[in-house]
Amino acid sequence: MIEKKRIGLFTSGGDAPGMNAAIRAVVRTAIHYDLEVVGIMRGYEGMIDNEMQLLDSNSVSGIINRGGTILKTARSERFRTDEGMAKAFQNLQSQNISGLIAIGGDGTFRGANAFLEKHSIPTIGIPGTIDNDLYGTDFTIGYDTAINTAMEAIDKIRDTADAHNRLFFIEVMGRDAGFIAMRSGIAGGAEAILVPESKTDLDAVIDLLQRGWNRKKTSNIVVVAEGDEAGGAFKVAEAVKGKLQQFDTRVSIIGHTQRGGAPTCMDRVLASRLGVAAVEALLNGKQNVMVGVLHRDISYTPFNQATKHNLDVNLNLLRIAEILSS
Ligand code: F6P
Repeated sequence: MIEKKRIGLFTSGGDAPGMNAAIRAVVRTAIHYDLEVVGIMRGYEGMIDNEMQLLDSNSVSGIINRGGTILKTARSERFRTDEGMAKAFQNLQSQNISGLIAIGGDGTFRGANAFLEKHSIPTIGIPGTIDNDLYGTDFTIGYDTAINTAMEAIDKIRDTADAHNRLFFIEVMGRDAGFIAMRSGIAGGAEAILVPESKTDLDAVIDLLQRGWNRKKTSNIVVVAEGDEAGGAFKVAEAVKGKLQQFDTRVSIIGHTQRGGAPTCMDRVLASRLGVAAVEALLNGKQNVMVGVLHRDISYTPFNQATKHNLDVNLNLLRIAEILSS
């Protein structure tokens, strides 16, 4: 049980659609349990600069449907230093904050872990990242919206690819993970999907495209995860173009559109569940864990395990993609 009734809440790292829904859920749940919530602006940066303000129920009205984050976000270099962390801790103490809820991804929880090795304050993490690259939850907040955004972009590109009989290489985000590529690629009917978790064989991609050409396929889409070891979409396109000169080829980088927009129903509900779970976890004396949903139930994963690397995308999905594109 935390001693004082005031918790700090912040978003950190890349924003993700649904972060606002999570903020709303945390604030309203905290109020429900008679806790005060201090919103810390711009993640660890605002913690160091003492940019904090009390949040009430009204301050989170009308945000469940909004992308971005009302608390703003940042990636903080200063928080990597002992001085930065010490200043942040001093500010938390001066604000009487005795528990923290951090909404973010891999970098956020690595930061929290480093902070907690030096300073003691019970902290609960909520997974908010479009990349879906955390252990301990089936899905992260923002991922569903991002894959739908990517899918819609692929659908639109399919129209123009088909009209011109073109080959497109579409690059999607995901940092060094291929989750966005895998799902949006399957949903968009991609001819090939290149992800960092499985070795890319460009000769096989070339063969597949050549077979498509032979049977007069009118459009071809290769979805490339930005972290694929063969390089981004431009690099892959260059390599393939040299061997398939008959194709009229284009490259499209979907980019930050994947981070914005209204969260999907799935993301809003996930954020609402995890916001409630995070506050209840703090109240129940849990600390230094990320809440998640595994097989439909709430789960708790220590930060250092949530951020472990070498995630697996579901290779069965890759197999499905291969069968369906032929
Ligand atoms: O982690 C979310 C993410 O959008 C990644 O998919 C991407 O690699 C990165 O952030 C981009 O970061 P920035 O917005 O700082 O360029």
